[in-house]
Amino acid sequence: MKNYITTPIYYVNGEAHIGHAYTTFIADTLARYSRLVGNDTYFLTGTDEHGQKIEEAAKKLNKPTQQFADEISATFRNLWDEFDISYDQFIRTTDADHKIGVQAAFAKMYENGDIYKDFYEGNYCVSCETFFPESQLMDGGCCPDCGRATSIVKEESYFFRLSKYERPLLEYYEAHPEFILPKSRRNEVISFVRGGLTDLSVTRTSFSWGVHLPETLNEPKHVMYVWLDALMNYATALGYGTDEAKMAFWPANVQLVGKDILRFHAIYWPAFLMSLGLPLPKHIAAHGWWTRDGEKMSKSKGNVVDPREVSNHYGVENFRYFMMREVPFGQDGDFSQRALIDRMNSDLSNDLGNLLNRIIGMSEKYSDFNVDSKDVAQYHAKELSDAHESLKAAENYLFELQPHRYLEELWRVFTIGNKAIEEHAPWVKIKEGRNDEALATVALVANLLAKASVLLHPVMPQTTTKIADALGFEITTDSYNALIKNGALLNPFTIKKIPPLFPRIEEPLMAEAPKAMIEEAPKAEPKPAMVDKKETTLSEEGLITIDQFFQTSIKIGTVLDAEEVPKSSKLLKLQVDLGEETPRQIVAGIREYYSAQSMIGTQVCVVANLKPAKLMGLLSEGMILAAKDADGLSLVRPEKPRLSGSSVG
Ligand code: MSP
Repeated sequence: MKNYITTPIYYVNGEAHIGHAYTTFIADTLARYSRLVGNDTYFLTGTDEHGQKIEEAAKKLNKPTQQFADEISATFRNLWDEFDISYDQFIRTTDADHKIGVQAAFAKMYENGDIYKDFYEGNYCVSCETFFPESQLMDGGCCPDCGRATSIVKEESYFFRLSKYERPLLEYYEAHPEFILPKSRRNEVISFVRGGLTDLSVTRTSFSWGVHLPETLNEPKHVMYVWLDALMNYATALGYGTDEAKMAFWPANVQLVGKDILRFHAIYWPAFLMSLGLPLPKHIAAHGWWTRDGEKMSKSKGNVVDPREVSNHYGVENFRYFMMREVPFGQDGDFSQRALIDRMNSDLSNDLGNLLNRIIGMSEKYSDFNVDSKDVAQYHAKELSDAHESLKAAENYLFELQPHRYLEELWRVFTIGNKAIEEHAPWVKIKEGRNDEALATVALVANLLAKASVLLHPVMPQTTTKIADALGFEITTDSYNALIKNGALLNPFTIKKIPPLFPRIEEPLMAEAPKAMIEEAPKAEPKPAMVDKKETTLSEEGLITIDQFFQTSIKIGTVLDAEEVPKSSKLLKLQVDLGEETPRQIVAGIREYYSAQSMIGTQVCVVANLKPAKLMGLLSEGMILAAKDADGLSLVRPEKPRLSGSSVG
């Protein structure tokens, strides 16, 4: 199957920010998934370089417009290369072939009567390159989109008969409910079109930085309206007007856009295509906007988040994961370092990273790194079928353009693995001599990791390649078919011991972060900390910083076993599962309040990065949190059960 995927082409009036990175990450994920499942895939991105806005930006810097466009376009391309974006083509609207293609399209629309010449007079916003009717202007005649002042422009113009396509468009939306995604956005577009479409001015004489009209029209003063020029990139990239043999990938399966440019893609674009007699794309999918601390990002506010800085700090794949997982597709999202770190620590380090480390550790101890799936189906049929249900659901979510749900389902598979280890406690089975069962659990989890990693590959290509390497297989269309489609298990293999893939970030990296990423101070009044005033690192008022607080790692632990410490009236010896390879031994002074029996199976909060100490000659590898007052002592526990190893903070 052929699969053509596009991003919008980015304006070259400024460098890329996280909004641009977001669209590109999602499109890259779709393209990688498409290749993984064996589709013949073509992924297009590029830059939008014409128009008054660009002409003016270049003038301000005293640069020839083409040179300015070359420089900024290169920054986008370089960034995508640094981010390993797997585009097949990077188109520029200043490419010669593109210009020829746009002229061919214009000529065709003119010939079939869809373009005619007239005059245009209206309120024009230079920044948005759009005319607005009086009724839409804000106070003082400002642009309803960007708030800047508009000016009255009267000029000779060619018009596209958009009004003619009002009915055909409404009929098309009706017959193709999946054309505009998500569905909530579809309704917006339909009501806009129902409100009536007026013909669209598609040429300008007020500036010259654009594609000229076909020579046959002999109109040297006119250049093409940027949106006609820009939208056509999706067709000219495939050879429209120059090499139609390349049009094999037409039409696009998914065209990703931000919600701000949906109208252009869901109304003008299909109308242009209808006029040209070309089939329409299958989906136009609109995502929401990223804000910074709840505010729109803008250079003037100085709150633009630079994607390169984020990637340098946290790794591009963690960044990709965060953006796709954090915000439901279509909704707006707020970027904060704290949210990114939380996702990295809880999802990547705790759930995925620990699971891999535990499997490596257990297989080292119990079977000299050898893993064999032979008994998995016998002992773990239920876990396997649950995992396959999630993998299937994940793929369906991706078809529906819900990458956050896709990831949620993959994480369910890791949870199944973590739970299986807790419930089947292979270390106990080994002690009891039930080696086959213990090794079957280890092999089950290795298989779950392998399967979920195959589907995580499009989101985190390099990380999952490392996981696959540790698990002795390669992520390819063949392994996708075997492990996901056919439900096969891994052949016997030897695990490779690799260093942890997701070291925890115990403290926010804020101090090292670029200025634009420094979080605002918390609004609430800080409370005095309950710490020893003699600590030299404390501030004078006895307060600690958030960095200092996060130096303490508090985790949820599940008590697997508990016994009284002989000759002690106060101490219990506990075996506590913290989601690590083996349980920790913790000696706690709670015997006066809790019996050993009542502790088994309960969950507690554990200070996990305390230096080990000896109590009554017994090693204690952590401290359990409890609250004490005159009436007694009670343990601090999660309100609802949480996975062992979940972080508290
Ligand atoms: N050049 C036009 C697109 C032409 S496509 C034929 C354009 N360029 S843009 O550079 O301004 O924006 C490109 C994409 O980035 C749009 O999809 C837009 O929604 C997206 N974003 C720009 N700022 C954004 C955020 N703050 N958050 C999320 N995406 C945002 O429009």
